[in-house]
Amino acid sequence: MTLVFKVDEPARSNLSAIEVPFIREMADITYHMWKLGWDERNGGNISYLLDESEVSKYIDTQKVIRTIDLTFPVEPLASKYFIVTGSGKYFKNMISDPESNLGVIRVSSTGKSIDILWGLNDGAVPTSELASHFMSHIERLRVDPTHRVVMHTHSTNTLAMTFIHDLDELMFTRTLWEMCTECIVVFPDGVSVIPWMVPGSNEIGRETAKKMKDHRIVIWPQHGIFGTGSTLDETFGLIETVEKAAQIYMLVAQHPIKQQITDQQLIDLAKTFGVTPVAGILQGNA
Ligand code: 13P
Ligand code: ZN
Repeated sequence: MTLVFKVDEPARSNLSAIEVPFIREMADITYHMWKLGWDERNGGNISYLLDESEVSKYIDTQKVIRTIDLTFPVEPLASKYFIVTGSGKYFKNMISDPESNLGVIRVSSTGKSIDILWGLNDGAVPTSELASHFMSHIERLRVDPTHRVVMHTHSTNTLAMTFIHDLDELMFTRTLWEMCTECIVVFPDGVSVIPWMVPGSNEIGRETAKKMKDHRIVIWPQHGIFGTGSTLDETFGLIETVEKAAQIYMLVAQHPIKQQITDQQLIDLAKTFGVTPVAGILQGNA
């Protein structure tokens, strides 16, 4: 296995890649997502904004392996570091071979290209959804300085729900809130939905990012979900909560409903937990 090195810290020079905290975290979460059945084959991708100080503990940031031009300039991310999943790479393989499946990259000072600093062996490139990731990072950082993670996954029940539920995002949010008592506490800001679009394009990146101005979750109908957050755990937990609600919906959708969570109960929950539900959904809530 290729060793990660840090020139002026010989004690760390014999670390294997998987011992590097941010590589381990990415490998663990992707493997877990695959185990849940969300990320078949190469489905899904993650990008995680890293501090230069954290990267330079383990990786020689002066040594550029390759440079890739971007077709979507991202000046606001200039000189920022990310660990990303590779395009066409399987989440199930991240732990056994991180160097081939993951990459540490740095956006150039102009925002027009990226430098590969570690990983993405044998000519691999970052996820084909990099436009959606980068544009989403830009929008989320504008509203939340603690933002770090963009996670895309083909979470099964959320995807299934987009076939049978109205795609109006307020209606979609209301249904999810009604499926589990604590959903409104976890995502009071609701979920957003864009129309079906061809994946991997700059256009879907722009539409996704527009929604990211005031949402942490964007649903891609008949495809999957984009979630954002400050840590991998928090972002995963947010998607997991939406997915759980979607699972309950898929379980109960074909059955007569005998009792459900009322608007007043949702308002009471929001009050108790000190969250503000997105407006325009609950009766009696502005
Ligand atoms: P990548 O393998 O290029 O990340 O694509 C997977 C995917 O889910 C596309 O939407
Ligand atoms: Zn996808």
